[in-house]
Amino acid sequence: MQSLTFTRPDDWHLHLRDGAALAAVLPDTARRFARAIVMPNLKPPVTTVASAAAYRRRILAALPAGLSFEPLMTLYLTDETSPEEIAAASRSGFVHGVKLYPAGATTNSAAGVTDLGKCRMALARMEALGLPLLVHGEATDPAVDIFDREAVFIERVAIPLLKDFPALRLVFEHITTDHAVQFVMAAGENVAATITAHHLLLNRNAIFQGGIRPHLYCLPVLKREAHRLALVAAATSGNPKFFLGTDSAPHAKSAKESGCGCAGCYTAHAGIELYAQVFDAAAALDRLEGFASHYGADFYRLARNSGKITLVRESWVPPATVPFLGADPLVPLPAGESIAWRLQP
Ligand code: NCD
Ligand code: ZN
Repeated sequence: MQSLTFTRPDDWHLHLRDGAALAAVLPDTARRFARAIVMPNLKPPVTTVASAAAYRRRILAALPAGLSFEPLMTLYLTDETSPEEIAAASRSGFVHGVKLYPAGATTNSAAGVTDLGKCRMALARMEALGLPLLVHGEATDPAVDIFDREAVFIERVAIPLLKDFPALRLVFEHITTDHAVQFVMAAGENVAATITAHHLLLNRNAIFQGGIRPHLYCLPVLKREAHRLALVAAATSGNPKFFLGTDSAPHAKSAKESGCGCAGCYTAHAGIELYAQVFDAAAALDRLEGFASHYGADFYRLARNSGKITLVRESWVPPATVPFLGADPLVPLPAGESIAWRLQP
């Protein structure tokens, strides 16, 4: 197959940041994806419907003329989120989920949830209204090995949560392990998962290949090869519980190449092409459209897109850096390595 035309995809997990950073990265996403679930981990976080509305307006204002893109907003769950705010979010028409960051789990998660017990009223309202909870599924207990945090989160948090709120609609974000694949497959239809391109392409050896590679550091951290293979199997299986979420998470080069570098990989510049590479390698290109363009919309109870995109089999090398914050660029993944599929403009 030399070219592939299919329904325009959506990105069900994306970091757009704000201000100059937002303006720098938004076109990469909007050229490829019709919509994206926009993460609320700004500083300060997007915790109210009013702040989500304002952030949505800033995103639309930053969109270059000629590109169409719909930001699907989320709220950042805190110990204080009220059931009234949840109800208002559900009514708003533009808030499509509520993000659970266990406090301390990842970038800008300090204001996150310290104890899910404090969120029972909010969770009950989400369950009643069908508003999805999007989870960063990592245990925050510092005693837990970083490679085990997803599995421990499932045992300690996700299973009890679904026992208490069995009809809660839940998206397990950026899954990285076979444990998460099994958990999602065994759960009811109310539970789904997003998978990033980088977790499908790389295992944890890549972080240390020939030296430490800060641009491959993200959270949850890359896992061993057996887990990568489980993710590829899930993504290419045609099971509608698994759909595309890039988790493209831009950080300036200086913040990544540092004594304490930030977590996050930038992939929006090749946000659909990298997945095409994975599906091609798995001889499953015929299943890319479901994963990228159908299943997420179905889970979120939104119409599938009507537009199309075309990818051609044509090798290209992404730039080593992408302009970001003035003199401080960002380094996209995989910098300097070729990608086998190209988006037709
Ligand atoms: C994300 C970010 O930078 O906001 N980082 C990451 O490594 N994925 C936060 C997140 O999604 O965990
Ligand atoms: Zn993320």
